[in-house]
Amino acid sequence: MSLRFISRALAGLLLIGATAANAADIIPLPSSMTKGTATFTFPVETTFSVPAFEGDSVATLFNNMLPALEKATGAKLKQAAGKADISLAIDQSIAPEGYIMNVTPAGIVVTASRPAGFFYALQTLQQMLPVVASQPATLTEVTIADTPRFGWRGFMLDEGRHIFGKDEVKKVIDMMALYKMNRLHWHLTEDQGWRIEIKKYPKLTDVGATRSSTSLGWGSFNTDTIPYSGYYTQDDIKEIVAYAKDRFIEIVPEIDIPGHTQAAVAAYPEILACDPENPHEVWIMQGVSPDVMNVSNPAAVQFAKDVIDELIPLFPYGYLHLGGDECPTTKWEQNDACKAQLDSIGSTNYRDLQLNFYKELVKHLAAKPKADQRKLIFWNEVLHGNTDMLPQDMTIMAWVGADKAAKEAATKGLTTILTPQIPYYINRKQSPLAGEPMSQGWGTETLEAVYNYVPMKDIPAELADKYMGVQANFWSEYVMTPEFLEYLMLPRLVAVAEAAWTPQDKRNYEDFHKRIRSHEDIFQAKDWNYARHAFAKEVCNKCKGEQK
Ligand code: ACM
Repeated sequence: MSLRFISRALAGLLLIGATAANAADIIPLPSSMTKGTATFTFPVETTFSVPAFEGDSVATLFNNMLPALEKATGAKLKQAAGKADISLAIDQSIAPEGYIMNVTPAGIVVTASRPAGFFYALQTLQQMLPVVASQPATLTEVTIADTPRFGWRGFMLDEGRHIFGKDEVKKVIDMMALYKMNRLHWHLTEDQGWRIEIKKYPKLTDVGATRSSTSLGWGSFNTDTIPYSGYYTQDDIKEIVAYAKDRFIEIVPEIDIPGHTQAAVAAYPEILACDPENPHEVWIMQGVSPDVMNVSNPAAVQFAKDVIDELIPLFPYGYLHLGGDECPTTKWEQNDACKAQLDSIGSTNYRDLQLNFYKELVKHLAAKPKADQRKLIFWNEVLHGNTDMLPQDMTIMAWVGADKAAKEAATKGLTTILTPQIPYYINRKQSPLAGEPMSQGWGTETLEAVYNYVPMKDIPAELADKYMGVQANFWSEYVMTPEFLEYLMLPRLVAVAEAAWTPQDKRNYEDFHKRIRSHEDIFQAKDWNYARHAFAKEVCNKCKGEQK
């Protein structure tokens, strides 16, 4: 190795140590931040103190972060009983997910009222530090008083069409956690595959988790002729739910019923099919299958209740998502039992058969002990039926015509989550560049378009409290590999995370783009794939003269 090469490499290392540590680059941008000029340098032996709190949960989360903090500070961290360089303290007046962080020449003081607040403060601290420090890191004086705009800061992952596996789901959870997102909506069932073990119905995974091949394009009969298979056991699910919980992320499962159920119908046609006399297979096409559940069959209703019963202990949180989108009624219109049931409920709108089916499931949930009850989330198509049949505490997830649908839900007194197809479906192409992989959409969901969506635009103040938050969705029809998933997610997920956390009047794309560029180092250090072109000149047309 030449001397010149070695000195260049050393200079590079020193540069890494000297860069970052920049409070201006935090994403999501904190709700309030005041910078000073003095600095705090981490002593070679940096002391820390953590409060005994909730069974030492704060100490545990700090200890979990120790290796990363040591790498990033270049210091050895040691617990101290009294005054410390980094001290965590409780302040009950701070909002549950909020925190205050003061960096002064004397050290770092973090206060919060709940473990989540401390966790988010530590994510902020990590972003302010270099990825790896070759010398003790330095932070500039700053006071951050931070609290999220929305309680629901979500990401939805569809693993029905393609399944990415436990390690990749954990990686997605890591991405969400770094950017303070707190709800993973896990779409686990589709026409093309049922991905969660249900012990009472083993054929759901023995049959429903495998399709014979995969269509190569929207509505195309060309297939790859390769069988495709995969599902999560209940033990896998428990492991992932626990991993997410440690990162303050609740996992909300979606069992999409009664539409998008062709895989389940193929597994149990005798109870689920509207036409059990015909053959049914796990779908190999993409789109919306007409092969939906026969909601008028009591055995199909019992099936749904049994599935819910197995979900409840696996996902110990307040919500269950039962889908409800894109459910064609054609098979019900040709089925005598369905026609009779529609008559019996006094409706001529076939969508009401779907809502009547949910009504049975609501009754089932309401009869459970309080701890096992769950509120339900539905896609916004349920608004096309008589919503008086459903409980007032349901939530409408607004995707198609999202702003209008969410407002309609809120006006009816229902809570709602904004997940607009355009531009928050971050599986769609993210640029018009020729190299974009096959996907839905035409590249209109650029980083800038995603960032510039304004949640709750022109919403009257009296409806505001119905808006629980925002969520990016990821559908996996054409996304076959973890690398491709990550490529489409990043950095767009981060843009949604900022909309979820930062007050609207503080959001600005130009400023975000400057900040996100310094996060490229983080993506690389964590081995996350991402769209490099989102950082390049032709996309960064507003970063005048500052491009890489
Ligand atoms: C959806 O995109 N079908 C919710």
